[in-house]
Amino acid sequence: MKRKIHLIVGARPNFMKMAPLYKEFAKFPEEFDVKLIHTGQHYDERMSKFFFDDLQMPKPDEYLEVGSGTHGKQTAKIMERYEEVLLKNRPDLVIVAGDVNSTAACAIDAVKLHIPVAHLEAGLRSFARSMPEEINRILTDAISDYLLTPSPDGDENLLCEGVPKNKIFFVGNIMIDSLIQYQEKARQSKILEKLKIENHDYALITLHRPSNVDKENGLLTILNAFEEISKSIKLVFPIHPRTTKQITAYGLEEKVKKMKNLLLIPPVGYYDFLKLQMKAKFILTDSGGIQEESTYFGVPCLTLRPNTERPITITEGTNKLVKLETEHIIEEAKNIISGNTKKGKIPKYWDGKTAERIVKIFREK
Ligand code: UD1
Ligand code: UDP
Repeated sequence: MKRKIHLIVGARPNFMKMAPLYKEFAKFPEEFDVKLIHTGQHYDERMSKFFFDDLQMPKPDEYLEVGSGTHGKQTAKIMERYEEVLLKNRPDLVIVAGDVNSTAACAIDAVKLHIPVAHLEAGLRSFARSMPEEINRILTDAISDYLLTPSPDGDENLLCEGVPKNKIFFVGNIMIDSLIQYQEKARQSKILEKLKIENHDYALITLHRPSNVDKENGLLTILNAFEEISKSIKLVFPIHPRTTKQITAYGLEEKVKKMKNLLLIPPVGYYDFLKLQMKAKFILTDSGGIQEESTYFGVPCLTLRPNTERPITITEGTNKLVKLETEHIIEEAKNIISGNTKKGKIPKYWDGKTAERIVKIFREK
């Protein structure tokens, strides 16, 4: 009998984590019947469809169209709609990834129907419960049956929380599977020509954490730093829809427009974004995944956050946390511009074989 598996995606960082797993399960069609479920948490073409195209993924089997909303409303809507899918098509296993609302909501639905759950990217902790993602991580890990960790710190965190060892599997970083698979396509991207920028002649920016963009003061602290840094280097800023919304809400469009050396562009597809990362002088970000990808590429990354759930990118990689003060951000950027860059190495099992290790586990179970 084939085992039925649901792979859950909802927001941008889920797509590059699930694509390798989908393809690996597809190698064993006699053993697994895999369905792709998209909650619709992210729905703009540039936040969703672009990734299905670049990652060569088929249309989802179920699209729940939940859209945006407050945490309570969005989570509840996902739970309500996914539960209906589960009741209609009861799988043997549900696999969720990362730490977005879709992750926790679908995991809760499944365990309440006594369906086993595997959490991809388990064990990561920022230890800051003010982050919505930290709550999603703790909840999902607490109820999952298979905890698939990307780095040994994940295993340590789970063991400290009392999770039995036999539920934890150090499988490596699945995001890097996609990166390795598509880095050649990314090299061929013409995004630098399109934006009229040159290799290593610009810094790449992304920004979307509520703690950075939802309060006017915090957003200004960061934009003031960009203003100063842009006097020394071109800044390329594919802007997240949350941040666009907040810049408009605070009437900061003019301020941003006036920065001549800041290229504000809509979010870009996966190949283009990998290319922008590879060729950047450095990266300024508050993204989780970009801290990891920049470590893989060996590109210096300044993370605009007081903490990270991905400490291995600091201890082994090229990442550095930056205090959220204008002067501090400027100082760290100038440090890199003047040639003072952090070298790093690629962590264990960030090798493009994570999906293979995961499917092997489920073939043996
Ligand atoms: C979500 C995740 C965050 C992840 C990020 C990746 C949660 C709690 N947060 O944050 O962990 O790092 O995705 O990008 O799950 N919007 C659009 N179009 C879209 C999607 C969103 O315009 O396709 C706008 C809406 O105004 C929405 C806002 O962006 O209210 C925020 O979207 P939401 O999914 O709630 O959170 P993100 O900030 O995207
Ligand atoms: N990304 C992309 N285009 C962009 C910005 C990001 O393809 O304009 C990719 C990036 O390479 C990484 C993922 O999106 O694979 C990270 O997602 P995001 O920063 O939205 O979420 P987080 O990792 O912070 O949860």
